[in-house]
Amino acid sequence: MRILITAGPTREPIDAVRYIGNRSSGRMGAALADAALKAGHRLTLILGPVAVAIPGGLRRIDVETAAQMHEAVMAEFPAHDLLIMAAAVADYRPKAFHPGKTPRRGSLTIECEPTADILADAGRIKRPDQRTIGFSLEVRGDIDRAHEKLVRKKLDLIVYNPTETMNSDMIEPSLLWPDGRTETLGAFAKTGFAAVLVAKAAALF
Ligand code: CTP
Repeated sequence: MRILITAGPTREPIDAVRYIGNRSSGRMGAALADAALKAGHRLTLILGPVAVAIPGGLRRIDVETAAQMHEAVMAEFPAHDLLIMAAAVADYRPKAFHPGKTPRRGSLTIECEPTADILADAGRIKRPDQRTIGFSLEVRGDIDRAHEKLVRKKLDLIVYNPTETMNSDMIEPSLLWPDGRTETLGAFAKTGFAAVLVAKAAALF
């Protein structure tokens, strides 16, 4: 299989030195990349700014912003069988970019606008022979939101996991499929879960 994986956070610039970001470490994406390579798949990794070690033997595209990740996914997805969006894409970006460093002068209001929904846009160009998988980080127990995203983004599988697993070595995943099947796996090391998910992804075809 030709697999496209996104991982890590995105950074949305406020000025030349500041950005809006999130706590994603990229660990889940790095584990997925490792598992996909070990299973013999061809891999492209679109990666936000992360400190975690990334395996060799894959095509790597480094990006910083949600807009850059969107552009890279739209360009790459047609040449892949499967997209796994493990990236924690920023939902909002500052409307204006201030060149230079904004000086500290009293209170500061930053007006933001939503970023494009990359997975939903990939869903719009998805061919019948392609599959998409998303992640849904939610407050514990809020699995209905994961189901809503599975439908809205036209996914073939979504991984629900509670917010506590962000920036951790562990994950507590539940898998949801469009036909109503659900599988709750309990606490798992991200490395172990990655191999499980790559196998479940192969079974989607
Ligand atoms: N995602 C995306 N593009 C965005 C935001 C999220 O492709 N701009 C992807 C994520 O990579 C993840 C899935 O969509 O695989 C769900 O992300 P999440 O942030 O939970 O969903 P949102 O649509 O942003 O919903 P909300 O923030 O309202 O929970």
